[in-house]
Amino acid sequence: MEKKNIDWGNLGFGYIQTDYRFVSDFKNGSWDEGKLTEDANVVISECAGVLQYAQTVFEGMKAYTTEDGRIVTFRPDLNAERMENSAKRLEMPVFPKDRFIQAVLDTVKANAAYVPPFGSGATLYIRPYMFGTNPVIGVKPADEYQFRVFTTPVGPYFKGGVKPLTIRVTDFDRAAPHGTGHIKAGLNYAMSIHAIMDAHRQGYDENMYLDAATRTKVEETGGANFIFVTKDGKVVTPKSDSILPSITRRSLIYVAQHYLGLEAEEREVTLDEVKDFAECGLCGTAAVISPVGKIVDHGKEICFPSGMTEMGPVTKKLYETLTGIQMGRLEAPKGWIQVIE
Ligand code: PLP
Ligand code: COI
Repeated sequence: MEKKNIDWGNLGFGYIQTDYRFVSDFKNGSWDEGKLTEDANVVISECAGVLQYAQTVFEGMKAYTTEDGRIVTFRPDLNAERMENSAKRLEMPVFPKDRFIQAVLDTVKANAAYVPPFGSGATLYIRPYMFGTNPVIGVKPADEYQFRVFTTPVGPYFKGGVKPLTIRVTDFDRAAPHGTGHIKAGLNYAMSIHAIMDAHRQGYDENMYLDAATRTKVEETGGANFIFVTKDGKVVTPKSDSILPSITRRSLIYVAQHYLGLEAEEREVTLDEVKDFAECGLCGTAAVISPVGKIVDHGKEICFPSGMTEMGPVTKKLYETLTGIQMGRLEAPKGWIQVIE
């Protein structure tokens, strides 16, 4: 298969239309068998549930080319499970896990020419999503839905690649206690758009959200979980019911413990203790692990000893081990890598 003529090394995190996407419709209480289509457009009612009341959930995952030329995905079962939880929270039907995984594999396979080559620094981002399609005007769930999967080749999420980021502590809240912060729903991102634009206008790369109830505990950013390293080399990630259960973060905890022999714990992290950490990073499918050099809390700067030019040493080891597993350089734990035949 011949690859597309794309300047893989200079891709940013943007949308490039690829050849095929998977589409399945839910009507009269069941999903149809679905199909791959070349039609990238969605035509729905002007009164569709998604357009009126934001009834939509999504996932983010990637396909990688390994050193020996295979195309693989990383833990798609966990994305399927998380999308099931997201759908249930918004009273949407569940797209079955085995069908979710198959749809992802089929879509990637159909777009194999767009999977960036090994070593290019780029990957194929995969976006499964689902939305209410039929007219809804009273506030209630739709009866009809569409599940789709598209792909787009991407480079680093943050401009500048792995250059350490500057984050601010924001006064905006992302998620309420007992709200929807733990699911991957478009509504969580809609409300973060003003906060991220405001952060950018003030020269920051991202926002650190605090817990909305007490504003004393670290939650996450608009698109990634936090990971910290203590001065004695322990990996710490914030625990909260209102953050997205990042698959990257859960994988990194395992990697820290089982590949690197580090202590790793998920626990509440207060804003007050952030100044005592040695390293900080953002982790997620899009972010991979993006190092944070500085956090600014209302004018007060927290500068991590790892500095503004390099990833901290533990962050770097985590990054290299995780990407090593994803790109086939290191043996993966059982079930983490799904090869696309
Ligand atoms: N937190 C938020 C708000 C996100 O949007 C994402 C991205 O998916 C993550 C965390 C990271 O999750 P994952 O590692 O599963 O991609
Ligand atoms: C992902 O990492 O897959 C996400 O969905 C984050 C988003 C902000 C691009």
